Amino acid sequence: MTTEPRRILLAVTGGIAAYKVPEIVRDLQRDGHEVRCAMTRSAARFVAPLSLQVLTGATVRQDLFDPSEEGEIDHIRLADWADLIIVAPATAHILGRMSHGLADDLVSSVLLATRAPILVAPAMNVNMWHHPATQANLDVLRERGIHFVGPGVGELACGWEGEGRMADPEEIAAQARRLLGSDSLAGETVLITAGGTAEPIDAVRSITNRSSGKMGFALAEEAAHRGARVCLVAGVTALPTPAGVERVDVETAMEMREVVLAQLDSASIVIKAAAVADFRPEVREEQKIKKASLESQDGITLRLVTNPDILAEVCAQKGDRLVVGFAAESEDVVQSALRKIKQKGCDLLVANDISRADAGFNVDTNSVYLITPDGEIEEIPLSSKREVAAQVLDRVEKLRNEKPR
Ligand code: PMT
Repeated sequence: MTTEPRRILLAVTGGIAAYKVPEIVRDLQRDGHEVRCAMTRSAARFVAPLSLQVLTGATVRQDLFDPSEEGEIDHIRLADWADLIIVAPATAHILGRMSHGLADDLVSSVLLATRAPILVAPAMNVNMWHHPATQANLDVLRERGIHFVGPGVGELACGWEGEGRMADPEEIAAQARRLLGSDSLAGETVLITAGGTAEPIDAVRSITNRSSGKMGFALAEEAAHRGARVCLVAGVTALPTPAGVERVDVETAMEMREVVLAQLDSASIVIKAAAVADFRPEVREEQKIKKASLESQDGITLRLVTNPDILAEVCAQKGDRLVVGFAAESEDVVQSALRKIKQKGCDLLVANDISRADAGFNVDTNSVYLITPDGEIEEIPLSSKREVAAQVLDRVEKLRNEKPR
């Protein structure tokens, strides 16, 4: 993904991972971006301001009221200067200050004053990360559109193991590049399905699955960042609509099929990340089935009928469209997916191993294989769903270059 050189402010807060900040600076500078740093007083105890000053060639601002800085960029001008602000490492404390809108030092004031997108790379002890206060702050910040990268899982500097490690510098830089956007999918209309379907049994009950919609929504957000027009057909999910994405909500597989087929003419790329029910109850009772009416019987028998295969229908009328399917496999992942791509006829199949606790349904990470009809297999190791989405779209762009419209 290529972008014009942009202005990036790295806001460093006080955690041991601050020693990795120079790597983030260098990575972004290699793309030609102008990088400046601001830091909290505690951050300056973990990484020398002079190191960052030498690397960036600019004064590293630390104080809200620094007479020696008079005439230099103040916190408002710094907030306005940035096209993107990265907070790395981000402590539990800065997350709390951000969520409450506190502005009692330079970094928090810049974060409150800026209108630029903010990317946060949290780093802290596992118990601090899982504390309800931290999680509540994260919910508030996510709701406000703050972007997050990591934290990863592993051995922590405090001696504990678990979630809380700052994402790797390359992952932070890659996410920053994505947020700065590109126009690599400009002119394309991407139709994406996400979430599970719910197949009603009666007025209150339905058969559904554990899909959260996270994978499909990550694809929609990423495609929009790359300049595509995105139509997201969302099944059962609680997720907010990503910026710049058109969304149509559906419940059942039949509704999803109807919307997908209606949108197909305008789509140049179709990505089917939804977990569509293969079966639905033959009869949907209009009223709630009363427990009392069942007590005389020994249980209840539901007859299920087969739902249409939307992906196969889309592939049957593919034309010069690119069609990407997903495959949720719990065993023999690659072999099953190789069989599935032949049956369905899509250009790319993204196979996830749903037997893993950290991949597939209802988690923030995924681990997938990208499989092509000629048997080419590329593994994407465990990464955030946003990172997986980026790699899937990188591959889609490559296929588009090989097969122009
Ligand atoms: O939503 P998340 O919690 O983030 O979880 C992500 C995910 C695991 C749901 C996603 O990564 C995924 O694998 N989606 C496809 C799940 C699935 O239905 O797999 P499948 O192997 O049963 O179906 C294969 C393909 O056919 C899929 O593209 C599916 O959308 C499509 N399909 C299936 C049945 C059907 N009746 N119509 C279809 O179009």
